[in-house]
Amino acid sequence: MIATLGLTVLAAADSASAQDAQAGARVFDIYCNACHTLKTPTPYKPAPRLAGVFGRKAGSLPGFDASLAMKTWGKAWTPALMDAFVADPGGVVPGTTMPVNVRVRDAKKRADLIAFLKAQQ
Ligand code: HEC
Repeated sequence: MIATLGLTVLAAADSASAQDAQAGARVFDIYCNACHTLKTPTPYKPAPRLAGVFGRKAGSLPGFDASLAMKTWGKAWTPALMDAFVADPGGVVPGTTMPVNVRVRDAKKRADLIAFLKAQQ
């Protein structure tokens, strides 16, 4: 039974990641969409566009006035940094103007969200 399940999971890996991204779209809507946009050019929103965020240096998006804290931190966004940041923004980038009470506590939701954001490059 367990072996059968394992095979099913392997076979389903591709559609599973598509499902993760789909679930992540809902996480984005609930937790991020009020402030962030994915679109280019950026319609008015109080936070930087998140399409293409991976590999981008923190606080470097042209046309968005990032905080000094974010610019000084300045690391290139990776899935691991994003995971830590959305779990605890102020813990990762002390002094960020992203409200520190924005927290996605559930690791599965964070993984889904990251799968979604990866597809928005
Ligand atoms: C209440 C508004 C708000 C919400 C909700 C919010 N953010 Fe932010 N976010 C901001 C602001 C403001 C900044 C700019 C922070 C700075 O410059 O210090 C920011 C910055 C960021 C950055 C850095 C971007 C860059 O260009 O370096 C990332 C990544 C990010 N947010 C991800 C998220 C994700 C993912 C969510 C949803 C889980 C989220 N944020 C929810 C307001 C918000």
